[in-house]
Amino acid sequence: MRFPPIMRNNPHILHGSDYNPEQWLKWKDTIWKEDMRLAKLAGLNSLTAGVFSWSTLEPEEGVYQVTWLDEVMDMLAENGFTAVLGTPSGAKPAWLSKKYPEVLRVDDSRQRILHGDRHNHCLSSPVYREKTRAINTMLAERYKDHRALGVWHISNEFSGECHCPLCQERFRSFLKNKYTTLDALNTAWWTAFWSHTYTEWEQIESPSSRGSAGHNGLRLDWRRFTTEQFVDFYLHETAPLKSITPGVPCTTNLMATYSGIDYARFAEVLDVVSWDSYPRWTSTDADKETGMHASYCHDLMRGLKQKPFMLMESCPSATNWQPVSKLRRPAVHKLQCIQALAHGADTIQYFQFRKSRGGPEQFHGAVVDHEGSENTRVFKDVAEVGAYLKGLDGLVGADTPAKVALVYDYNVRWALDDAKGFLQQKTGYEQTVLDHYRPFWTRGIPVDIIDSKQRYDKYDVLIAPMLYMIREGVAERIRSFVEEGGLFVTTYSAGYVDETALAFLGGFPGPLKDILGVWCEEIDALFPGEQNTIEWTKDTYKRSYKAFDLCELIHLRGAEALGVYGGDFYAGRPAVTVNACGKGKAYFIAARTGDDFLGDFYKEITAEAGIQPILANPLPDGVTAQIRNNGMENYIFLMNFSSREAGVSLGSSAKDNATVITLKPFEARIIVE
Ligand code: GLA
Ligand code: ZN
Repeated sequence: MRFPPIMRNNPHILHGSDYNPEQWLKWKDTIWKEDMRLAKLAGLNSLTAGVFSWSTLEPEEGVYQVTWLDEVMDMLAENGFTAVLGTPSGAKPAWLSKKYPEVLRVDDSRQRILHGDRHNHCLSSPVYREKTRAINTMLAERYKDHRALGVWHISNEFSGECHCPLCQERFRSFLKNKYTTLDALNTAWWTAFWSHTYTEWEQIESPSSRGSAGHNGLRLDWRRFTTEQFVDFYLHETAPLKSITPGVPCTTNLMATYSGIDYARFAEVLDVVSWDSYPRWTSTDADKETGMHASYCHDLMRGLKQKPFMLMESCPSATNWQPVSKLRRPAVHKLQCIQALAHGADTIQYFQFRKSRGGPEQFHGAVVDHEGSENTRVFKDVAEVGAYLKGLDGLVGADTPAKVALVYDYNVRWALDDAKGFLQQKTGYEQTVLDHYRPFWTRGIPVDIIDSKQRYDKYDVLIAPMLYMIREGVAERIRSFVEEGGLFVTTYSAGYVDETALAFLGGFPGPLKDILGVWCEEIDALFPGEQNTIEWTKDTYKRSYKAFDLCELIHLRGAEALGVYGGDFYAGRPAVTVNACGKGKAYFIAARTGDDFLGDFYKEITAEAGIQPILANPLPDGVTAQIRNNGMENYIFLMNFSSREAGVSLGSSAKDNATVITLKPFEARIIVE
């Protein structure tokens, strides 16, 4: 299957970069001209302008100075570049903070912050909203017919939260709208505990680290409210753009596992998902793990809409904010770019084009170094990728044919982060989802990472590790998925609480009890280093696997045991189960396990579902294969994240070793068939 290109005026793999020409305004006659020459030489076809340009665009209130941007836009068009055009709200001018302090955020201790940095405006402030409406309208009017305009880039990396009186008021409206009565809210948040019953709406305040961290119900709703604030602000920013430039897609750059926003909700309002990827490459064998994590983040971002996304930012060399700004070793840059494409990116973009001469990020890797020429190693790496991408038009819009869905749910993460009991220091939700991803990455089987509220019907296998919170309608949809023939897998700590974090009564895993055919009576948390075992009792292999951290003590209520605990007072009790339900099956893994168990287990599950790895022969350690399909051809991506050479067999069966490709350390290749 093939999706239409993201931009109507650039149907190629977009190769671009953040471009901040306002930093070089005084030198535009020399530097801007040189920028165009170098950008073409680097094989770029797009540049992102305007993201942090507010103080240059509106140096004093209501006085716009835009001729420089007109020149930039014309220059981009004349030189064949698409413009990804930013709205400037990610950082505000000093005059705005000085004149209207309400635009400054209030932190959770109720202190108003001072002017500076970025990403710190109040989303409720009527002044901020009016100023952003006005400047966005001006930009849209000005460039609506400009042939360079390709995509709107709204603000930058939305994040944080504001606790000002205006935001508190909006929070209370959000709650009134959600619960209608205080009685319903008090029940949902279980406020009778510690005498927290509210008797007037005005008593409700956001959680604070100074005083009241708040009940978990309050904390959950505060995060949902914060998400809605961002959604609402994004819609506020896009309103003029949508009405003046209806054909131009809008997006904002996300940050994969950033936990402050429910991206599954946020993605509903984006035309296309875009995100910023900065893997912590070490250029050692440790990159096997770094590479897998980067793949996981890409799959998470693609899963939000299950269609191609934009890699809005990445670094072509050393990333200044990482604890160790290690240089990218030869080959790693190309590997990182091919990896993004492999997981569904239709764009490769960098932060930034030319290294800033000063300021907070002056030593962040960029396409053009302070040295200023095309003669640097990094520039040549980028140019090599640019030349390579020119041959990949056929990949634009290609789909990822995943038959396995893995659930990563921001709401579940929030609920587990707040859950007391179990393992307070290491509930480990994100790590656990990643652990369940690993066997697929290692074998080269594509996976969509989705939210529990997304559709399940296009998958054969649905895996929801630690599905602690069962949101509305989710249990019913899991049931129909299984009844229709799907294989469902979940684990310990599933089905404990509902959407407002109230525990399910009548036994865990709450509404999943019947589907799984088990009752989870207790959960044991082990100290670091303590272990139990799972003894596999099913015929195929007699193996013993380690169990650690969390072991749930369960009873069979219709399910069959596939494995039992090997030790402690619950030795012999079921630890892995399967339950037939309609045409499908539901599996339950009662304890935290290691890669040995998960590897074997998912081999059986995929075999049962008839899912084959992309390549018939096993992949060497540290190598993954991924696939995209454009309706006619398969693009197979082979990527070696290990620091050793690896031979990948392209044979059609496990015995056929006829064609072996040798990948050098950190080499990636694409095969089209
Ligand atoms: C983020 C921001 C950019 C820049 C880069 C540097 O992704 O969006 O403005 O600060 O980080 O890594
Ligand atoms: Zn506020």
